[in-house]
Amino acid sequence: MTEATPPAFAGPRRVLSGVQPSGDLHLGNYLGALVKFTRLQHEIETFIFVADLHAITAWQDPAKLKTQVREIAAAYLATGLDPKIATIFPQSAVPEHAELAWVFNCVARLGWLDRMTQFKDKAGKHKERESVGLYTYPVLQAADILIYKATHVPVGEDQRQHLELTRDIAAKFNHDFAVPGHFPLPEALTEGPGARIMSLRDGTAKMSKSDPSDYSRINLTDDADAINQKVRKARTDPEPLPELLVDLKGRTEAENLIGIYAALAGRTAQDVLTEFAGQGFGAFKPKLADLAVSVMGPIGDEMRRYLADPAEIDRVLTEGAERARAVAAPNMAEVRRIVGFWAG
Ligand code: TYM
Repeated sequence: MTEATPPAFAGPRRVLSGVQPSGDLHLGNYLGALVKFTRLQHEIETFIFVADLHAITAWQDPAKLKTQVREIAAAYLATGLDPKIATIFPQSAVPEHAELAWVFNCVARLGWLDRMTQFKDKAGKHKERESVGLYTYPVLQAADILIYKATHVPVGEDQRQHLELTRDIAAKFNHDFAVPGHFPLPEALTEGPGARIMSLRDGTAKMSKSDPSDYSRINLTDDADAINQKVRKARTDPEPLPELLVDLKGRTEAENLIGIYAALAGRTAQDVLTEFAGQGFGAFKPKLADLAVSVMGPIGDEMRRYLADPAEIDRVLTEGAERARAVAAPNMAEVRRIVGFWAG
């Protein structure tokens, strides 16, 4: 006999996502995540936070952490998140994230976490030297999402596995505590050509804050000169661009640059190829650099303008935290009752 499908979550649609304050934001963060936040805020109730709890899974200088949080908040505002529409807040200002994470630590299975590729990538050969926090990182991420009963999570491709784990935790909680449909099974929103931006130096590695080479990425705060230089030095191959997308297969660096152009221009990769077919990178790169400067330049300027007024950023974050807590606190109280805690 097959088990009946449990009733689906019946609550409202809600978006949640976040970024770690652990380094300069780059084009991958912008195209994979921030652009989507700004679009979605007009469609669905949106919660966007700065993941300072996650950041300390690797050492962060306590004297700098608050400034790093403000920088991410400035990037959110500079890319168009509107604090009157979206709720923008620091994760550590809402203690319910950490409280729910503890409950989820007791729901998630070791075997599930053992499969997480991001931990394996970050820990490398010496996992015994990593913090326990880095290992349970995806459990806290599940709590970030489910404390708001969020249904949609805009992220880059690299976060897909963490979203699958979130769904597994939600389903197991609903099942084990016999509360079908209590938590939604949230969906990762990873569509679009910006979901996996690769390093400018190596088409097989993703663009990342932690890459030691600054030439591997375009930062949100790079000026026109830096962007031009980085695009000019980006690794490519000597072949001209083909007419069809399928013919880019195997040319990882070329594919990446076409993908970046498409994402920045809001066009499809095939459309971009149709325009540049037959041309070499000598012709394509200056066009890409101009486009990147025209999109990223104003964002960098806006970020600097916000950062010149930290009191305004702090006001946005404090107000956002209050709004977030107004949702998180009753949701946590429900979980306490469901689990049977003394303080339930
Ligand atoms: P983080 O800070 O590493 O990255 C922030 C966002 O940027 C996306 N991203 C990329 N997208 C395309 N190409 C790339 N090269 C690239 N590099 C990064 C990431 O996918 C992410 O969407 N675990 C998260 C933070 C987090 C979170 C959450 C996200 C904590 N709790 C709850 C969503 C929901 C992270 O480390 O992001």
